[in-house]
Order: sequence, then structure tokens, then C-alpha cells
Amino acid sequence: MAVASPIAPAAEDTTRRLIDSHGRVIHDLRVSVTDRCNYKCVYCRTGELGAQYPELAIADYLKLIKLFVGLGIEKVRITGGEPLLRNGLIELIEELANLRTLNGNPLDLALTTNGHLLDKLAAPLKAAGLQRVTVSMDAVDAPTFERITRVPGSFHKVLAGIRAARDAGLTPLKINCVLLRGFNDGEIEGFARFAREEDVVVRFIEFMPLEEGRLWTPEIVVPLKEIVERIGRVMPLVPMPAREASETARRYTFPDGVGEIGIIAPVSQAFCGACSRVRLTSDGKIRTCLFSQVEHDLYGRMRAGENDTALSDYIVKTIYGKEARHHIGEPEFLKPSRSMVHIGG
Ligand code: 5AD
Repeated sequence: MAVASPIAPAAEDTTRRLIDSHGRVIHDLRVSVTDRCNYKCVYCRTGELGAQYPELAIADYLKLIKLFVGLGIEKVRITGGEPLLRNGLIELIEELANLRTLNGNPLDLALTTNGHLLDKLAAPLKAAGLQRVTVSMDAVDAPTFERITRVPGSFHKVLAGIRAARDAGLTPLKINCVLLRGFNDGEIEGFARFAREEDVVVRFIEFMPLEEGRLWTPEIVVPLKEIVERIGRVMPLVPMPAREASETARRYTFPDGVGEIGIIAPVSQAFCGACSRVRLTSDGKIRTCLFSQVEHDLYGRMRAGENDTALSDYIVKTIYGKEARHHIGEPEFLKPSRSMVHIGG
């Protein structure tokens, strides 16, 4: 007679895991803590500073994030707007660093920033328990950079921020560069050199139709293929193997192994089939896709007094309905009602 081993694990309760109707397991949560931003990047904002959506108390973000972590989220990325503008951010990071995933591990905890305030905040963020940052930087040439951000002096602030983050050990440090034909596509080769000199991972991102204005056209997108060809003309690129299925970036290094380039190609080579992400907006709504046409008011339910079980059920049900894919470039494509700065990157 077979005797059950005393160390056999209990049957896993998969009913409360975050799985969508297309079989994708969701383990990555992006949380926007403000939709304010101190930059006015030409491909994102029309120009007015200021928030459009309310912000929650830091304690409320924490309560909502804990529900997600209780359902299997393993990675949390704090975004905005510009998250470093948010009061209470350090306290939030400290609390998040103490959370444990369902497997008992610390969360993979990262943050995306424009870097403007990072020179002073890198060390306190690291001390609070943040592991990594991604800095958005769209040119390595100062005048080009400031034509994009529309903030004088921003280039040197961001460069100081990047160096402070590296010195504080917020590594591997990633730089995100959104390429737009006619604005900053001349920066591609400069960024390849920058990756090697500064020992950072540079990731080029294809421009998606998520801006406040009407700039996006298929022609303004600089596709992956073109980026690879252009860098390859000055320095040969060596493809690196993917670390996990849901990795968004195609990764490359150089023959001497110094420097890493990533290319994120949501437009020319969509990766929706391997998507593992959902988002929480600064006003506490779940977005199951960047391009969702509907939002799900999780915070509204919490404020109305729903208990944790009911809220968790709502999260499970909402994520089950995650969209199969985006429809960029197709005739029926509809821009979402919120732009990137108000969704959270
Ligand atoms: N398409 C692609 N990337 C974008 N980002 C902002 N707007 C867009 C867009 N329309 C980038 C930012 C930041 C990250 C959160 O997303 O530059 O690095």
C-alpha cells in the first residue's frame, strides 16, 4: 500500500492564482503612485503640468498591493507620472521590501523614473529596500535631450541621477529610450557607446500610440530591425538568450561582452502572448492592458467597505478577462482614454 510521504506538499490551490482566460499567468504588477510629471516630453505630453486623476494615500496603495501579492504577484514596479515626486515614496518602498511572495521570497522591487530627482534619492531608495531602477532617457546629446523633455538643464540632472543610482547599487541599471523618427533616431549609435562607457543596459522602445496629442503614425516608429542594422554597422551585435518567456526585450551584447542593448518591439513584434503584467493606476483602478478600453475600480470597492476576500475575488475575476492582445496599426484600433503618463509606464 502506498503511504503518503510526510514531506509531500499540499495540493496547490490554483483557484486563487492570477491566470487569465488565455492561460497566461500574471505575476508582474505596475503601480502608478502619481500622474504628475516634472517633464513635458514631446512624445508624451501636450504641455500642461499637473495631475488629472486623484492619488491614493500611500497606505492604500500598500493595502491594494498586498492583495495582489497574496494572489501570486512576484514583481512590483513603481511608476508614474514621475514617482519620485510622490511624498511617502520611501516609506512605501520600505513596506514593500518587507512583503513576501507566496513562495516566501522577497518581491522583485523596481521603479521607473525620469531620473531628474534621482541624484539625491538613489541612496535613500536603496537603503529603503529598492533593488533596481529604470531611467527614461531619450538622447545622449544634451540639446536633443532637452528639446524632448522641454526642461532646461534636465540632461545633466539625469546623468547625475544615473551615476548616483549606479553608485548606490540600484543595478543592473536600465535606460529606456523611446525612439521617434526625426526627433532622436540619430542617437542610436551614441546610445550604444553610452551603454558600454557607463556600464548600463540601454533599451530602445518602439513608440506606441499612448501620447496625449496626435503624434503617432506607423512611419514615426523606428522598428527593431532598423535599430539592429544601424548599431551593427558600427559595432557587431551578439544576441543574448532570453532569461524567461515573458521577457519583453530582445537582448544583445557586443563581441567583447561589454555593454548590453535591449530592444522592446511592442509594435513590430508584439509580445502579448507572453504578457505577464497588469497595472494599477494612481487612482486605484486595475488596467489589464496598456490599451484597455475599460478600467476596473478596485479602490472604489475598498473605499465602499468590501472585505479582503471580496476584493481578492474581484482581482481574480478582472484579470481572468485580460485582453488577448493589442490592435496597434489595425483599422479598428482605438486609443485608450488615458495616455501613458496617466496610466503608468
Ligand atoms: N510608447 C513607448 N514608450 C513610452 N514611454 C512613454 N510613452 C511611451 C509611448 N507612447 C516610456 C517612457 C518610460 C516608460 C515608462 O515608457 O519613456 O521609459
